[in-house]
Amino acid sequence: MIEITTLSELTIDGKLALHRASSSKELFDYSTDELKAWFHGQRALSDAIMVGANTVRVDDPQLTVRHVDGPNPLRVIPSSDGLLPLSSALLNDGLPTLVATSRKAGPATLAALRRKPGVEVVTCGETEVDLAALMAMLAERGIRRLIVEGGSTLLSSLFGHGLVSKIIIKHIPIISGDPDAPTYLTLSPRPGLGLGISRWRMDEWFVKGGIGVSVYAREAQPWTP
Ligand SMILES: NC(=O)c1ccc[n+]([C@@H]2O[C@H](COP(=O)([O-])OP(=O)(O)OC[C@H]3O[C@@H](n4cnc5c(N)ncnc54)[C@H](OP(=O)(O)O)[C@@H]3O)[C@@H](O)[C@H]2O)c1
Repeated sequence: MIEITTLSELTIDGKLALHRASSSKELFDYSTDELKAWFHGQRALSDAIMVGANTVRVDDPQLTVRHVDGPNPLRVIPSSDGLLPLSSALLNDGLPTLVATSRKAGPATLAALRRKPGVEVVTCGETEVDLAALMAMLAERGIRRLIVEGGSTLLSSLFGHGLVSKIIIKHIPIISGDPDAPTYLTLSPRPGLGLGISRWRMDEWFVKGGIGVSVYAREAQPWTP
């Protein structure tokens, strides 16, 4: 059984980035050293870390542990067609990375990914990555704690499948003001995914380096209004 924790930075107006298709690294600039150390400590406590393919395309993240000492988690990227930029930082630093594709990914794409040092490719799903099957595969490999850092499409899928057990939100004291900036969860979930009401319990709330952090756990009981 994997414990799946989402860890996101959100603006006051509920955005994951300041503008459409802009990097969430801009939000990181408003973070403090104390918060960065705490945040990277959360990564170090995890066996694996996941972001969606689009976050790789837009943010080009490293997904390593940098502001504290600690082990790098296995990086896991769901990408249905496997079309990640081959120049991406995480495909070129030699650290372990698992790219999960669906059967849509072509043989040339798979071969190009497999040539990258430290990169393993698995096929998991027909037209998009089957997240439940991917989690089962990760559990078999001994992954117990997975941290998911976004973006909205991946988070929405995970919530839609009921896979998330803990939510961490860093409240960045900025208003984006851009209606096109990505929201925490997308308003157009993928077909067949119901993002209905779910109930969460606030377990912790604290201020770290001037930024509020809230931690929610899933309530065992379903929501009854
Ligand atoms: N503030 C924060 O904490 C934070 C963190 C991360 C990202 N972000 C921001 O979020 C934005 C990107 O979010 P996004 O919603 O566009 O993309 P995303 O959630 O990062 O990636 C979604 C992509 O993942 C792939 N995927 C494969 N199987 C999937 C499945 N079963 N469910 C969902 N996705 C699946 C699909 O791409 P393929 O079709 O290619 O497979 C899909 O389009 C960027 O602006 C980034 O800066 C913010």
